[in-house]
Amino acid sequence: MSSLKNYMNKDHDVIILACESSCDETAFALYNLTQKKLLDHTVYSQIVHESFGGVVPEEASKEHIAHIDTLCAQLLRKNNILIDEIDYFAVTGGPGLPGSLLIGIGYMKGLALKNKKKCIPVNHLEGHIYSPCLENKIEFPHVCVSVSGGHTSLYYVKNEIEYRELATTMDDAAGECLDKIAKLLNLGYPGGPIIEKLALENNFKDIRQYPRLKKNDFSFSFSGLKTAVLYDLVKEKLYDLETKKISSSLSDQLKRDICSSLLCAVNDIIISRIILALENFCEIKAVTCVGGVACNSFIQKNINELAKKKSIKCYIPSKKLCTDNAAMIVQVAAFKILNNSCDSYKNDTVIIGF
Ligand code: KG4
Ligand code: ZN
Repeated sequence: MSSLKNYMNKDHDVIILACESSCDETAFALYNLTQKKLLDHTVYSQIVHESFGGVVPEEASKEHIAHIDTLCAQLLRKNNILIDEIDYFAVTGGPGLPGSLLIGIGYMKGLALKNKKKCIPVNHLEGHIYSPCLENKIEFPHVCVSVSGGHTSLYYVKNEIEYRELATTMDDAAGECLDKIAKLLNLGYPGGPIIEKLALENNFKDIRQYPRLKKNDFSFSFSGLKTAVLYDLVKEKLYDLETKKISSSLSDQLKRDICSSLLCAVNDIIISRIILALENFCEIKAVTCVGGVACNSFIQKNINELAKKKSIKCYIPSKKLCTDNAAMIVQVAAFKILNNSCDSYKNDTVIIGF
């Protein structure tokens, strides 16, 4: 219990500073551990990638380097906190883009070393899992579906520090599938919000009825869906596989039909996995949905309705906490300190990944 005692005995409130830099967001968060309260957080989203139609790792690294120090200093200044008042440093250790991770880890390790404090590595996926805890007191055990551009998984979450992955995607992540179809249709990046907008204009109708993989296990698969959309367009001579170009005669209505049907299929896949989890674990008290795709209003509505039908609670973080942020990283660090289960980086090593 030594770390718990240490933090209780301080003559001042214990503060954690966390950084997230695993992909195309540079983010910082401040947490008051004594009061168990998020103080503030800030996110810089790298818009440079929009023109490339996807995240370019080299560009992401350059952007992190350009903004990391200013962003951190601004957050501390805004909250009247000096760097030597920070008791713990925490940083995303992986998974993510190696170059981007290294910048955050190096930066936070440097600060921790200079201030003679611990630097706690946090798993990015754990950050998403516990992100709903920032805004609500969540019942355990609960089931969490994590859907983003880089990962899609289902978890059994036992308590503040213990969870089990029930399944993950066998191929593409849900958001990756949306982003790829958006690219195919020349809709822009990131694809999810644009697809949602077009699908809404079509009242989320399932016009094209793309096939759903009928499986009785928890695993996800989205690449078949992507191929179904592509080959429908090829069959209708609206996409040329050789030149990889979409026909200019593709109507706006057809785009709406594709987007709404695609979202219906993605939604059905997610909902079917939650139902399966609820059937297998009758002790589940709540369902959470996290990650960038959880921003989707159609998916949110359907998960909420399912939870109501099954008489369990449903928690979906606000938009700023669904997409990548450092608040979720600081939340995990806080749980680890409170439960006396945190690692810390050694001063002479940089480790990426878990
Ligand atoms: O969690 P996130 O910010 O970054 C990753 O860790 O990947 O998620 C980004 C993903 C992108 O694929 C994006 O298209 C998707 O989340 N996304 C959405 C929506 N907003 C973002 N997907 C569906 N509907 C949305 N409203
Ligand atoms: Zn993420």
